[in-house]
Amino acid sequence: MSIRKCLFPAAGYGTRFLPATKAMPKEMMPIVSKPLIQYGVEEAMSAGMNEIGIVTGRGKRAIEDHFDKSYELENQIAGTGKEGLLAEITEIIAQCRFSYTRQVEMLGLGHAILIGENLIGNEPFGVILADDYCVASPDSVMQQMLKIYERYQCSVVALEEVPLDRISRYGVIDGLESDGVFRVSSMVEKPQPELAPSQLAIIGRYILTPDIFEILRKISPGNSGELHITDALNVQARNDGVVGLKFKGSRFDCGGLDGFVAATNYTYDALKMEFGA
Ligand code: UTP
Repeated sequence: MSIRKCLFPAAGYGTRFLPATKAMPKEMMPIVSKPLIQYGVEEAMSAGMNEIGIVTGRGKRAIEDHFDKSYELENQIAGTGKEGLLAEITEIIAQCRFSYTRQVEMLGLGHAILIGENLIGNEPFGVILADDYCVASPDSVMQQMLKIYERYQCSVVALEEVPLDRISRYGVIDGLESDGVFRVSSMVEKPQPELAPSQLAIIGRYILTPDIFEILRKISPGNSGELHITDALNVQARNDGVVGLKFKGSRFDCGGLDGFVAATNYTYDALKMEFGA
């Protein structure tokens, strides 16, 4: 059975991008002229996930407006030759169904995913953190993960090898590789380098089986008061329920300045090559 739904936790404050994110959602920051979350939705669609659930919060209404028709704007640019600039987003709106729910208190990624349960129900689903911008071809990262899900029928995390001096920003896995896929035995959230079980970090792409919701309801928040998705995945991993894929492609951490600028330069250069601008 294919996966129909993809959840976008997008309620975080985006404090690393203040003041830009004071009144604007981090997910609406543009890489060249397209907001981060639109790239994420295009990736979900590439994997056949056209039911998009977005967990929003205060100050995030621009996301809903982006994925809606704008009659006034369409009217304004009709006949000016600029209609093509809206072609992609118009197509996305036509092909996808969008649902929204709000996270009232920002109690972590695990909590945001649990809040998304009413949009997902009892079926496996994708999760995309839009601030991790992924470029991969011919298969998108979510397409690559879907193929692994179809083979193993369990939760799938996307992995990237990161240098030890940055490992403490990520959830890090321990596990054994066979055929390019890691059977995950455990995970540690943001370990100090000397305590990291590997250099394989979980990035912002997941396929989760729906038992994750029951687990999230039962586990306790970490020291920071946040509910960590890695703690819930650890429970699944103990029952052989998680595999990790070292995906093919590049990822830019657009939640921070360095990644955001690198993604912008990369995309601008790629567009110049494509259109000879
Ligand atoms: P981050 O760790 O990047 O947090 O969240 P953040 O608040 O967005 O950004 P900074 O660190 O303050 O700059 C990872 C993802 O999880 C979502 C965020 O929106 C982002 O997509 N998230 C995080 C939630 O939806 N709710 C939360 O309570 C926390």
